[in-house]
Amino acid sequence: MVEKTYENIKIEKEDGVTWLSINRPEKRNAMSPGVHFDMEDALTHLAVDKETKVLVLTGAGNAFCAGQDLKAYFRENDNNPVERRRAGLASHHWRWELLSRFPKPTIAMVNGFCFGGAFTQLCACDFAIADEEAIFGLSEVNWGIIPGGVVSWNVAQMMMPRHAMYYAATGKNFTGKRAEELGLINSAVPADRLRAETLELAQGLMKLNQNVVRYTKEAIRAVKNMDVETARDYLAVKQDSLARMDQEIGGRVGLNKFLDEKSYRPGLGPYKV
Ligand code: COA
Repeated sequence: MVEKTYENIKIEKEDGVTWLSINRPEKRNAMSPGVHFDMEDALTHLAVDKETKVLVLTGAGNAFCAGQDLKAYFRENDNNPVERRRAGLASHHWRWELLSRFPKPTIAMVNGFCFGGAFTQLCACDFAIADEEAIFGLSEVNWGIIPGGVVSWNVAQMMMPRHAMYYAATGKNFTGKRAEELGLINSAVPADRLRAETLELAQGLMKLNQNVVRYTKEAIRAVKNMDVETARDYLAVKQDSLARMDQEIGGRVGLNKFLDEKSYRPGLGPYKV
């Protein structure tokens, strides 16, 4: 497949893992309108790209993302409502709609600063691993704005209520280590282990049945706002749909391997052996 190149983002592929980076290290990967338009296009293509089995979102240089570009996204569009709206729509589209519904597993690899609007793509990814010394901050309060878009909604979902309130209302920074304690990320690791740990998670996910992983992540997100009866019904229909779509599941290949062939045990190996 011929790779497209972009001005504000970078795509690198390696054995099924696609590393997608915001590429404005000199601006700590702050999100300009150009970043939003490039990401919208890239994620639309990568969603159906056969070489992409797992997507890792990260940032070039020493930042994951310093939030919205206070100059290019806010100030320069103050008197241009059409451009402001266009950028705002693209910003929400890629960071939430395209990313949280991406059909393959997604991992946020937080390699440094993670501020403000960057929490949206952090929470949209299915998994997150950070440098234990990365600096996180809901800094909006300092700029006279609230954590808008869907940032407040996301932190209220991911953090315990007291922590969400504290960090959003004070704007105080916290480390990757603390982000793990808060439940915002899966794990915090030393900087020199970050890429290897991310790759290990990605490779583990690739060994599983891709349809099951996809349906599972969709189910976990969907049931969050359902009552228990609706969730039970939804999950039954979802499982039915999975079995119809995937011959291996429908044909009970996994069960046969465990019960009859005795060639596979879930605690000791992946679904596909
Ligand atoms: N918007 C616009 N420009 C930004 C930016 C942002 N969110 N974050 C960083 N930059 C720019 C700086 O203006 C600077 O540009 P310049 O070289 O043209 O002057 C460049 O990126 C480097 O920033 P600098 O502050 O010198 O780097 P640093 O490594 O010392 O600090 C941060 C990095 C991220 C801690 C600091 O830049 C910062 O606090 N940024 C604001 C983050 C924020 O609050 N984002 C939420 C927006 S709602």
